[in-house]
Amino acid sequence: MRLPIIAGNWKMNNTIEDAVKLANELKEEANKTDVKVVICCPFTVLADVRKAVEGSKIKLGAQNMHWEDNGAYTGEISADMLTEQGVEYVIIGHSERRQYFNETDETVNKKIKKALEKDLIPILCVGETLEEKESNTTNEIVKRQTVKAFEGVEAEDAKKIVIAYEPIWAIGTGKTASPEDANDVIAYIRNVVKETYSEEVSEVVAIQYGGSVKAANATEIMNQEDIDGALVGGASLKAEEFSAIINF
Ligand code: 13P
Repeated sequence: MRLPIIAGNWKMNNTIEDAVKLANELKEEANKTDVKVVICCPFTVLADVRKAVEGSKIKLGAQNMHWEDNGAYTGEISADMLTEQGVEYVIIGHSERRQYFNETDETVNKKIKKALEKDLIPILCVGETLEEKESNTTNEIVKRQTVKAFEGVEAEDAKKIVIAYEPIWAIGTGKTASPEDANDVIAYIRNVVKETYSEEVSEVVAIQYGGSVKAANATEIMNQEDIDGALVGGASLKAEEFSAIINF
């Protein structure tokens, strides 16, 4: 039985005051739910949010990291810098990073391996563009992204990875994949994991849906058989919305 995991991706939002306020508002609600709750904050608020959520069920996540341990990589953040801040999860390969910051399947794979080596749980994002959806290549795209991301990862480590299926056309647009369609793609991704490793691994890996998840559609999405949670952008910035989602 996979425990659902709901993660908020704050993206480039919230300076310290707003971040701490939001974290405080979410604490109590998070303690009421049975699902795992993660908030993926900007680096600059990690220390303060960590203090705010201490003793609650909320786990701390980051939105990116570099694949090297340290060195001359101006502007980058290493895995050790994250774990030192109490970070347990890290989003890898979000479509916005692939789209605007030239992340590739290769760099995503390097980051996944480094995160696992450093005991961070990667939340690996995969998903197709509108063009790709319209040309019926969704399965092909998510298969390629998944297989490349897992390359060189041992089965026991693969089990720890959380995958987030985020169709790019559904991010921040208000358009959601229908719960059935999202479930179908997620079941397909699970099958890719099975083909790559084994049924055992594929049954353990948590696969989330992301893209315009809000309180109003969370229950329907979460009730799908293969969907193990959600990666929430915009709605995770509002305490009331995100609270309703985690208590779907
Ligand atoms: P929205 O929920 O704002 O569509 O964003 C989804 C997302 O990109 C989460 O990583």
